[in-house]
Amino acid sequence: MSRVERRRHLVLFGPPGSGKGTQAELLRERQGLDHVAPGDMLRQHLADGTELGKMAKSYMASGRLVPDDVIVRMIKGRLEGESSSDGFVLDGFPRTVAQTKDLQQLLADLGRPLDMVIVLEVPMKELLARLSLRADQQHREDDRPEVIKHRLEVYHEQTEPVLEFLGELVPVVVVDGSASVEEVNHSLLKVLQ
Ligand code: AP5
Repeated sequence: MSRVERRRHLVLFGPPGSGKGTQAELLRERQGLDHVAPGDMLRQHLADGTELGKMAKSYMASGRLVPDDVIVRMIKGRLEGESSSDGFVLDGFPRTVAQTKDLQQLLADLGRPLDMVIVLEVPMKELLARLSLRADQQHREDDRPEVIKHRLEVYHEQTEPVLEFLGELVPVVVVDGSASVEEVNHSLLKVLQ
């Protein structure tokens, strides 16, 4: 598969269960983009028992957002590192308007402005089906039904407004995320060519 040479600074946007992590991982494997996912980084901290992990635990378990300053510090360290220098896909960041403003400044400082935001659109029924299936298979603590509900509310209240802000800065493209994993990947690559 040919490598995407342009548009290598991306945000994958969408509600919990929309497939951000799945698609970002494919873009890492197939396109060499750094997959930057605060959720994964936090889960690693939790597993390692770090102070950051201990602090984040109750926020994550209840589906609340971890404070902005903690997240921004973590992402800053990652984007400044070598692994992101050839392009990145942000999965689950930014999630608040404050994070978006910090990201904008950080990328300006790094001389690597965002190229595009891709929104994965998936009907609510499908989101719920995917997350409850994962709850059965992987027992992720925040995939319990009451926490899923809260994560979706947080997305609606705190994260959706980010899209309007980002839309003032870069092109926003909506992709049907309800198709199969490979079909969605194909749509993303078409958008990125
Ligand atoms: P995070 O890990 O980012 O969770 P999320 O955004 O809720 O996203 P998910 O991982 O549930 O969904 P996804 O869209 O990545 O879909 P996935 O590919 O996994 O965040 C967890 C927590 O960390 C937050 O609640 C918060 O506490 C904290 N946090 C993280 N970022 C933060 C930030 N910026 N600020 C503050 N706090 C933050 O797919 C879901 C399921 O569907 C999988 O089982 C997958 O196999 C399946 N699937 C994927 N694609 C398809 C498809 N096309 N067809 C069928 N099934 C599919």
